[in-house]
Amino acid sequence: MAAKLGGMQIYRSSLLRFADDGRALYDEDGLLAVAPDDKGQQRVVAAGSWQALQARFADLPGVQVTHLPERILAPGFIDMHIHYPQTDVIGAPAAGLLPWLENYTFPHESAFADRSHADAVAGFFLDELLRNGVTTALTFATSHPASVDALMQASQARGMRMITGKVLQDRHSPDGVRDDTEQSLIDTEALIRRWHGVDRLGYAITPRFAPTSTHAQLRGAGELAARYTDVWIQSHVAENLDEVRWVAELFPEARSYLSVYDDFGLMRERAVYAHCIHLDGEDRALLRERRTAAAVSPTSNLFLGSGFFDFAQADAAQFLYGLASDVGGGMSFSPFKTMQAAYVAGREGQTKQGLSLSPASLWWQHTAGAARALGLAGQVGNLQPGCEADFVVLNPACTPLLARKTRQASSLDELLFAMIILGDDRLIERTLVSQAK
Ligand code: GUN
Ligand code: ZN
Repeated sequence: MAAKLGGMQIYRSSLLRFADDGRALYDEDGLLAVAPDDKGQQRVVAAGSWQALQARFADLPGVQVTHLPERILAPGFIDMHIHYPQTDVIGAPAAGLLPWLENYTFPHESAFADRSHADAVAGFFLDELLRNGVTTALTFATSHPASVDALMQASQARGMRMITGKVLQDRHSPDGVRDDTEQSLIDTEALIRRWHGVDRLGYAITPRFAPTSTHAQLRGAGELAARYTDVWIQSHVAENLDEVRWVAELFPEARSYLSVYDDFGLMRERAVYAHCIHLDGEDRALLRERRTAAAVSPTSNLFLGSGFFDFAQADAAQFLYGLASDVGGGMSFSPFKTMQAAYVAGREGQTKQGLSLSPASLWWQHTAGAARALGLAGQVGNLQPGCEADFVVLNPACTPLLARKTRQASSLDELLFAMIILGDDRLIERTLVSQAK
């Protein structure tokens, strides 16, 4: 990584980052040095204590230091599962997942056949992510190919690292969102070729969930996943008990809901399945074996009454997972709301161990841990040397209660916990993305 001294920017502030083993590292008086690499991408050159790094980075002639007292620099958050076309679906009441899809989600998504609507929502969605400190997301578009173009173009204009894909749904879906089996696979391949690896953009092969794809469509998706090995895969699994029963009827040959995806070659590295609530031990072992990740979506699970992700069982099985908002099933774009809900859900897991998640591990699951689950460790989600410089400036005194609580914190755990439990978009003073244009 060739850091050009001329382009180097030095920040002096408190600094939060993560060690490779997931431990939180915190410098009360920290230094972050950022410089463009030879492609113009801003990357972290150095991160650590001001005292240790000042002589090498800040005392050089011509170097300007941006001093941000009483602020905390932290990695930009990563949302492992969100639907941009559901921005206007947040808060739509329904008895559960299946009526929610039928009565609210599909009608809203059908509007994305109109490119100008898709452009308008994509712009709002990305600005809302940034306002909430989210710099990378794995997001569903709709079944309309132009909905992918809209989000990719808007992300490119903002310099954001964004992964999305056209939804595949060729059955059990109403007119307006249902696609054609053969055309859907042709469109998916064309979109991969158009967008995957362009600037900071990535493509995800996106079967909505097993019930809305024919065997032929899932087979075609699996073939594309085998051909384009560094493309992501995203879908939903085992979110809701009615859904699980439906899948058992539709795929009687499969051992479990999750194994439907495995049977079609849709479990591998860079595959991400939202929810993963109603799993058994064999499913968890399969996730680990295939190096496939779960996107844990606690505000959505609470809103739709789906159940609770079992963190203890996930850790015991050692499969990859990270946090996600799942807007619009989810209730908020804010990573703080997601971490709050994960903490509560973690106390309610099926094993009922009464175990709660530590604040550092919650934060890691939404940053460096999520990056690892996406196959992007060392690129995003952290502020270690070499990482793309996506970061947030937090103001821990942004509300009277937060100011009071964070001032009293006597450990890093207490400081992080105060922000997780009391935080929202007001904590995010600024969001900087590595390739801002
Ligand atoms: N399962 C299939 N589609 C969806 C969706 O859009 N949201 C959620 N939460 N679950 C799904
Ligand atoms: Zn979802």
